[in-house]
Amino acid sequence: MPTIPGLDETARAIIADGKGILAADETVSTITKRLTARAIESTADSRRAYREMLFSTPGLTAFIGGVILQDETIRQDSSTGIPLIELLAGRGIIPGIKVDTGVHPLAGAPGEFVAEGLDGLRDRLEEYRELGARFAKWRAVFIIRDGLPTAKCIHANAHALARYAALCQEQGLVPIVEPEVLMEGAHALERCEDVTGRVLQAVFNELFDARVSLEGMLLKPNMVTAGQGSARQAPVEEVAEATLRVLTRHVPPAVPGVVFLSGGQDHVLATEHLNAINMLDGPKPWTLSFSYGRALQDEALEVWRGQRERVPAAQQVFHHRAWCDSAAALGRYSGDMEGEAGFAPPDSTPHAPH
Ligand code: 13P
Repeated sequence: MPTIPGLDETARAIIADGKGILAADETVSTITKRLTARAIESTADSRRAYREMLFSTPGLTAFIGGVILQDETIRQDSSTGIPLIELLAGRGIIPGIKVDTGVHPLAGAPGEFVAEGLDGLRDRLEEYRELGARFAKWRAVFIIRDGLPTAKCIHANAHALARYAALCQEQGLVPIVEPEVLMEGAHALERCEDVTGRVLQAVFNELFDARVSLEGMLLKPNMVTAGQGSARQAPVEEVAEATLRVLTRHVPPAVPGVVFLSGGQDHVLATEHLNAINMLDGPKPWTLSFSYGRALQDEALEVWRGQRERVPAAQQVFHHRAWCDSAAALGRYSGDMEGEAGFAPPDSTPHAPH
């Protein structure tokens, strides 16, 4: 597995100096649900306005090193006629693209799913690279239930993740490998730890067999938590310890960075968990940062509500959350940062979105 210089540098640049990733790659159907839940009409233009509001947030570049786009957004122009992808790149934020085509029922495995999108992927990656993407993302999901996930589901998804990652590297894009053990269910933290370990082990076995360069990729896993429906939610410290334990056992140190998904966690809790993981003693050979979707965006979407005059207020709460998450990626977050004190809103507006 040779290292690939350009890819290694890109992977490290995305997560340098406490920076993380904004996952803004919700499919049209997912973002439509989030917009309509807040009485915002979902049109190509409202989705563009929402993403532009996020991407043009003043001061964001100190905390966000990469943004994951999806197919519609990567082709859209800003209100001032600049392609959104150029708006990001011009600010020094590395653009990436979601390339799986979603999860579908896995034949012969009732209740389980496989992420699809390998057919024609080489050509799509080539086109996205020409549009300016420098990394890609593929998300597989695993459900915890009695007897699930099955070995068959774990293997099918791990194999697809490895084929995707190898194709990305061939095409000069850094693969973000995202095996997500879902939080849905009433399982205990210990069960999540066991399943997450099995999934990560299978994924790295497949990545090895596919000759993927570990130095030129990022891993995007779930944290180890109890299921959302469990009566016992583990304290922050316990989540941190279990998460670091599972990474230590199953993720090779050659991987430069682990960027956690938020998976439906409350935004403050997602910040606290990341900070606690970074505060733990013991070897942490990877940069441990964030690639949050909902935990970064929810407050901003709530404030924005599709109204142009609310853009500065929405950008301010988004900037605040990115500031907290970046501090957590450095193990320097404290609850005091949630209040007004210590938060200096940026005062320059590089782009004024409409
Ligand atoms: P969440 O942080 O909302 O889980 O989203 C991250 C992501 O990219 C899911 O694929």
